[in-house]
Amino acid sequence: MLSKNMSTALNRHLNTELYSAHLYLSMSSYASSIGLKGAASWFMVQYQEEMVHFMKFYTYLNSQGEHVSLGPLDAPPGEFKSLLDMYEGTLKHEMFITRCINELTELAVTEKDHATQIFLQWFVTEQIEEEENDREIIGKLKLVGDNGYGLLMIDSELGARVFTPPATGAVA
Ligand code: FEO
Repeated sequence: MLSKNMSTALNRHLNTELYSAHLYLSMSSYASSIGLKGAASWFMVQYQEEMVHFMKFYTYLNSQGEHVSLGPLDAPPGEFKSLLDMYEGTLKHEMFITRCINELTELAVTEKDHATQIFLQWFVTEQIEEEENDREIIGKLKLVGDNGYGLLMIDSELGARVFTPPATGAVA
């Protein structure tokens, strides 16, 4: 059982995860349009992961007897200055998501909602990894600057990322 407050907050965040998916889908398309196929693939994997995150909230809300309310979403940006700009935008967005997850966790602690605390634990850990990956890529991009060969090397590395679906096929 969830409190009204908790249910509303989780539902709001479910929509934020869906926005994240749209943001990375937009970045994937832009990267593809400027010939960075590796980055396009990386952002497509990121999009797929965000859909898994979205579905985790969806499944959790439903399992608690709540219904999901899909709100209108802001359109994500469609153009970017550079690959570095995309990854800096990604890190900024993920830091925002981390703050959201922390706030949800604080609410669950305040309400002594142990089930939701356990549910959110996965996201707390996930956000560490998300931010770490982005920082690593940003570091490499800053290192190569405008060097075309360096950028192509990084693009090739980014293309190696693969989407790993949730182990059991379940999303909760
Ligand atoms: Fe769902 Fe990238 O946080």
